[in-house]
Amino acid sequence: MDTTQDAYWMPFTANRQFKKNPRLLSKASGMHYWDDQGREILDGVAGLWCVNAGHGRDKITQAIQAQAAEMDFCPPFQMAHPKAFELARRVADLAPAGMGKVFFTNSGSESVDTALKMALAYHRVRGEGQRTRLIGRERGYHGVNFGGISVGGMVANRKMFGSMLGGVDHIRHTHDPARNSYTVGQPAHGAEFADDLERLVALHDASTIAAVIVEPVAGSTGVLVPPVGYLQRLREICDKHGILLIFDEVITGFGRTGNPFAAQTFGVTPDLMVVAKGLTNGAVPMGAVIARDSIYDAFMNGPEHLIEFFHGYTYSAHPLACAAGLATLDTYAEEGLLTRAQQVQAYFAESLHALRGEPNVIDVRNIGLVGGIELASLPGEPAKRAFGIFLDCYKEGVLIRTTGDTLALSPPLIIEREHIDRIVGTIRAALRRAA
Ligand SMILES: Cc1ncc(COP(=O)(O)O)c(C=O)c1O
Repeated sequence: MDTTQDAYWMPFTANRQFKKNPRLLSKASGMHYWDDQGREILDGVAGLWCVNAGHGRDKITQAIQAQAAEMDFCPPFQMAHPKAFELARRVADLAPAGMGKVFFTNSGSESVDTALKMALAYHRVRGEGQRTRLIGRERGYHGVNFGGISVGGMVANRKMFGSMLGGVDHIRHTHDPARNSYTVGQPAHGAEFADDLERLVALHDASTIAAVIVEPVAGSTGVLVPPVGYLQRLREICDKHGILLIFDEVITGFGRTGNPFAAQTFGVTPDLMVVAKGLTNGAVPMGAVIARDSIYDAFMNGPEHLIEFFHGYTYSAHPLACAAGLATLDTYAEEGLLTRAQQVQAYFAESLHALRGEPNVIDVRNIGLVGGIELASLPGEPAKRAFGIFLDCYKEGVLIRTTGDTLALSPPLIIEREHIDRIVGTIRAALRRAA
C-alpha cells in the first residue's frame, strides 16, 4: 500500500514520518494485534487505554452484529430505545452511591464538554448563574474540544487555538519528582497541592466558580498518580465553597485502577464523572457523563413539556454503542475484570520498578494497571528519546505509548504475568540498545 500520497490526515501523528514508514494493524485478538504483514504484536496499551477486556471479544462482536441487523439507528431526541435505559442503569450501578444519572455522548472529548456545560447550567437553574468560571489543572488532558482544551493544561494542545473559553483558570499540577520519584503507587507527598484551589478562590471569589475538573490519574501527561490525601482535600475545598468537582475518568474508568472507577480506588466521590473508552471496550465510539442524582433533579423544574437541558448529540445512546456497552459490562462482570487489576498490580509494579537503573530511566510511576517510565530527555530534543524506544519496541513486537519522554503502559485487564515479562523485557532491551 502506498501511503505517501494518502488522503488520510492522521490525528495526533507525525504524518510525514509515518507515511514514509507506516505501521499498519489489520487484525486483533485477546492480548495481541497483527500487522499487515501478519506479524504478532503484544498490546501493552489496550489499543488506546480502551480495550480493557482484550480484543475481539465474541460476546461484544455478536451483540453489535445482532443490533445492526435489528435496528441501526434510533433518534435520541424525544425518542429512545430500551438498551439506552438498560445501559444507563448498568453504568449507574457501577458508579459510587448517589451518582445515578447517565448522559450519553460519543467520546471522551464530548463527555468533557458535556460535563462542563452541565456544571454551568446546574448553577444557573439553581439561581447561581454567576458561577461561570471553570477550573482545570496544569498538565491536565481533557480531550480536544474547546471546553476540554480550555480547562486542559497541555501547552501543545492549546497554543495553536486562540483564546479558547473565557473565565478559565488552572490549579498547579501534582508532579514532584524531587520528593516522589520511584514511588510505588500513590506518592506520599503533595496533598497540599490541592490548596492551590484556595488561592483561586481568594483571587476570583468562590461565588464565580462553577466547577473544578481533574483526572484522578493524569495519563496523557506522563502518568501522574495523585498524592495520598490530595483528592480528598480537593473534595473538601469544593464542598466548602459550593464548587462542583468533576473527575475525568476517561482512562481510569472501567477497572484500570482495580475498581470500576478511580473514585472508588481513592475513596472520593465527585459530582460529575466523565467516561468513554472502556465503556464499550473500544468497539464502538461512546462516552458518558455520570451525574449525581441531585444535579439531575435540579434540572427537573418548570413546565413538564419543555426540554430541561439543551444539549445532546445525534449519536447519543446509539443502538450499536449501547449493545456493545451492555455486552462489554457483561464480559467485565463474568470475568471479574473491573477488580482484576488488584490481583495483577503488585507483579506489574514490581516488574516496572525493576527498570530503575536502566539507561536514562529517571522515574517509574504506577497505579493499578497503569505504568509510566520517565526517561531523561535528549538535550534540546524533548520526546525524541522515548519515541525511539517506542519504535524499537514496535519492531520487536510490543506496542507501547509515549507521552513526552514518558513511556506509558495501560495493558488490557486480562494481562498475564508472561505478557508483563515480555513487555518489560522488550523495553529493557530497547533502553540498553539505545544507550
Ligand atoms: C483523561 C482524558 N480525557 C478525555 C480524553 C478524550 O477522549 P476522546 O479521545 O475519546 O475524545 C482522553 C483521551 O485519551 C483522556 O485521556
